[in-house]
Amino acid sequence: MSKKIFSGVQPTGNLHLGNYLGAIKNFVNLDNDKENECIFCVVDLHAITVNQDPKKLRDNIRETLATFIASGIDPKKSIIFNQSKVSAHSEAAWILSCVARMGWLNRMTQFKEKAGKDKEKASVGLYSYPVLMAADILLYDTTHVPVGDDQKQHLELCRDIAQKFNNDFKVGNFFHVPEPLIKKEFSRIMSLKDGTKKMSKSELSDLSRINLKDNKEEIVNKIKKAKTDSLPLPTSVVELEKRPEAKNLIGIYASLLNSNSEKIVKEFSGKNFSDFKESLSQVLVEKINPISNEIKKLLNEKKYLDAILLEGSEKADEKASKKLKKIQEIVGF
Ligand code: TYM
Repeated sequence: MSKKIFSGVQPTGNLHLGNYLGAIKNFVNLDNDKENECIFCVVDLHAITVNQDPKKLRDNIRETLATFIASGIDPKKSIIFNQSKVSAHSEAAWILSCVARMGWLNRMTQFKEKAGKDKEKASVGLYSYPVLMAADILLYDTTHVPVGDDQKQHLELCRDIAQKFNNDFKVGNFFHVPEPLIKKEFSRIMSLKDGTKKMSKSELSDLSRINLKDNKEEIVNKIKKAKTDSLPLPTSVVELEKRPEAKNLIGIYASLLNSNSEKIVKEFSGKNFSDFKESLSQVLVEKINPISNEIKKLLNEKKYLDAILLEGSEKADEKASKKLKKIQEIVGF
């Protein structure tokens, strides 16, 4: 069955292995399936929910697009655009913010994590950010949303908003209620310094993540310094549950090779971490180096990148503004 795919990535620089294995690699697989209609969005409106340097933001928008293409998304097949260029996203977000309930948003754990202790100083945008995400998805009658595990709660909210709108205005299935596509394994890549914390761009230590622009030496060094425990590699997957760092490194290795943790545990059962780390570095360099070289090359082709975004925004705008018009009619404008 053909699927309508939508997903977004924030242009906040330093896209990392978590973004790749949790999301972008899956975008590429979905994009390769001829049946699917895919839309991938550089969500610059989401990025400004925290402070951004305008010049860096402009560069990061191009870099996110370059990362999509370097990873294997074909801009001739899929629509790739930046969110701020399609005004229907902001307009629909306002209307949906009048459908979403405070109680629903109050439960969002990512806001609590990102706002930290001083919630009073967080932007209103950071709080209402999942409503904008719902608008992104619902404007395109999306059927499936590929994301990492950390976006699961936001997708549940999106489904609630869609259903409440449909019920409140008695419009049947006007908004399609989308399904999340979250891989059972590898949808939560953890920090290389702490296997209980998510790999993230906001983590201070660069040693905690593999950036998609890292070179060979950086990758090898980061894996060498990655935290492990003092035991040899486990002999069964059950053991992994109590060993978060081993679980994460084995997961990364398995995901890069399109394998699974069970097979990798068997392969390295009882071996030393130093042997495993050597193999892991090798696979990482093999898979990530071509992407990082391609990103760097594409960043010199600003006109090419800008043309893709322009064409993508025109195509997205055509679809989104039609849906927005219907939304406006339904609410009585
Ligand atoms: P963002 O920009 O934080 O992350 C982009 C994608 O990367 C995934 N991800 C991870 N996956 C596994 N392990 C990790 N450590 C890891 N870190 C990040 C995220 O789950 C995400 O899929 N709100 C979204 C962007 C967005 C969006 C949307 C997504 C805006 N509108 C509509 C889907 C549909 C975000 O901030 O992702």
